[in-house]
Amino acid sequence: MSFAAVYPGTFDPVTKGHLDIALRARDIFGSVVVLLIPNGNKKTLFTQAERFALLQEAFRGEPGIRVEQADGGLLSDYLKKNHLRLVVRGLRGASDVEYEFINAHYNKLFNPEIETVFLPGKPENAFLSSSAVREAFLYGADIISLVPPCVAEAINKKRKNA
Ligand code: COA
Repeated sequence: MSFAAVYPGTFDPVTKGHLDIALRARDIFGSVVVLLIPNGNKKTLFTQAERFALLQEAFRGEPGIRVEQADGGLLSDYLKKNHLRLVVRGLRGASDVEYEFINAHYNKLFNPEIETVFLPGKPENAFLSSSAVREAFLYGADIISLVPPCVAEAINKKRKNA
């Protein structure tokens, strides 16, 4: 099976919003690489190894989804190296547009073969974000409805060890 599209992110942690975008992209393009790639501007709650394990668990058994990770560097370099050119990102609303357009612009500048496709997030995920989940963690709120079960479990474990 050749993997047509790449859904990149920091996934700190993966949420139900990310799952929705990845699975819909898989349904459209046939197969998707969910790529954990560091965002140099973000300090994360979960280590890269933890985020990768959670992504693998969240997508376990899903046909047409492969979870990969990059140690760093540009997304455009990863795509070139792996002979991929299609990036999928979700848009929850207008406030995501500028940030996503800037990333899409730089990806294309660095590798003109790259195309970025945007999928609208589901309305129920409009206010869902990894940082909301992290903040909820900080204050001990219940995040079970926002994340896959493996993430809820990992957060509870982190809370106990904090
Ligand atoms: N539903 C819910 N939440 C969503 C969402 C959806 N459909 N789509 C995005 N989000 C949220 C995430 O939860 C996250 O929230 P937070 O910032 O509050 O934590 C935020 O939107 C985006 O995070 P994520 O999707 O994990 O990716 P990112 O913006 O951290 O990273 C990369 C984007 C990884 C693609 C980008 O940083 C990258 O390409 N890095 C490599 C370096 C590079 O090539 N840069 C390119 C330009 S120089």
